Amino acid sequence: MTEVKSEWNSNLAFVLAMIGSAVGLGNIWRFPNVLYSNGGGSFMIPYIVSIFLLGISFVLVEYAVGYKFKKSLARILFTVSKKLEPVAWFILLVVFLITTYYVCVVGWDLIYVVLSFTKGWGANPDLYFANNVLHATDSVSGIFTIVPNVLISIFVIWFIAWLINKRDLNEGIGKVSKILLPLLCIMVLAIVAFSLTLPGASIGYSQIFKPDWSALGNSEVWLAAFGQIVFSLSLGMAIAMTYASYLPEGSKLVDNAVIVAFSNSGFEVFNSIGIFSILGFMALTSGIPFNELVTEGTGLAFVVFPQVFNTMGSVSYIIGPLFFLCILFAGITSVIALLEGVCYSISEKFLIERKKTATAVCIVGFCISTIFATGLGSTILGVFDSYLNNFALLLGILLECLIFGWIYKFDDLIETLNENSTIKVGKLWKTVIKFILPICIFCLWAQGIYYTVTDINPISTTIITILTVTLIVVPFILSKLPAINKDYYNV
Ligand code: PFF
Repeated sequence: MTEVKSEWNSNLAFVLAMIGSAVGLGNIWRFPNVLYSNGGGSFMIPYIVSIFLLGISFVLVEYAVGYKFKKSLARILFTVSKKLEPVAWFILLVVFLITTYYVCVVGWDLIYVVLSFTKGWGANPDLYFANNVLHATDSVSGIFTIVPNVLISIFVIWFIAWLINKRDLNEGIGKVSKILLPLLCIMVLAIVAFSLTLPGASIGYSQIFKPDWSALGNSEVWLAAFGQIVFSLSLGMAIAMTYASYLPEGSKLVDNAVIVAFSNSGFEVFNSIGIFSILGFMALTSGIPFNELVTEGTGLAFVVFPQVFNTMGSVSYIIGPLFFLCILFAGITSVIALLEGVCYSISEKFLIERKKTATAVCIVGFCISTIFATGLGSTILGVFDSYLNNFALLLGILLECLIFGWIYKFDDLIETLNENSTIKVGKLWKTVIKFILPICIFCLWAQGIYYTVTDINPISTTIITILTVTLIVVPFILSKLPAINKDYYNV
């Protein structure tokens, strides 16, 4: 069998798939909280600085490398230096493990899509989420109780991801992005337009434009902005590199990076106007202070929003499903992107065809995700999330910066980027990648370790130990396994 190289059939397919990979749960429920807790309007300054300094700069490294090599991450790092292949498998394993719990959260959302048509969460969404959806328990024995609804929804999301990823690039990821992304935009537009008509909306959206300038002097605010950009743009997850490797010759890399970064940020800022307006309405009607409503993540989506829909009357039977469908669509386009880089490296090294790789990866992924469908699932998920995102992924990004900034011939990347792009990069970008970015990521990483370590308990220690051993052993084994694809060794 010989290698089959995929190629995007249009630049639009690439851009939409890239935006789809970036726009995800992080944009919808992480950003409003980060924005609010870090100075409201004034947060826009560190945020915009982060888009350029961190976001676009790092995406450009991934684009240049993927486009230049036209190979998978594992093979690229092998080409740079044989010793670096385990780093690639480490990054890919982190991405894969992130996908296993990300799918679970998208699965919870699927349950809420169904519930939203009848407001099936009842009068007390808080208790409903803990007792009826998660069946959450703190006891270790909870790991032996399966929660059927969650298991089924996790299965459905993995199945959808498999259906998309096993297909040809343009027929699968390309087509799905072209359908889901415009739909997502229309739905968010409808939600924001409606939310602005609600009484009390201004209590909410004015927060975004009410700057707290003193926050700018706080280093944690700057780190929060860096962290949001890393999460939201899916940096260091081999996605941009993989997607760029499928680009035909003549592509405008820098232009594309700017379009993707601004679309992603534009989406999250616009979307948060809707979220804040709806929360403003809730603050007015319920008397609950605004700051208690702006929670993060699952609390916002699966508790606060159902509470809001309960007070909204019959229009919530339209807005509710739209809201949860937005999360579902944004989640699916991110899941398929997370999987693509992993599948590409496996199929390129072991010469396994696309469909079979996707099948194997999705089956293993589903098996791991079942841990999150147990009574202890949400606790384990929290540990996975904080360890993998705050520690392992940042370590991967730091290594990538050092490898491509210091070990690889960096000037070649500048040439690759400037070849066809309207916007050019130069020495400033080089300085950012070699010095500024590693320092920023290191600070974020140190902060992440601090948070993970201060939140330690017997369950999290066990999970972190298992994850650490896995992240050392598995990449080592995968890099030692001989490649079936003999071209793999042609550096
Ligand atoms: N950028 C996407 C999001 O904001 O949800 C995808 C993603 C980011 C997935 C970070 C997973 C993750 F840890």
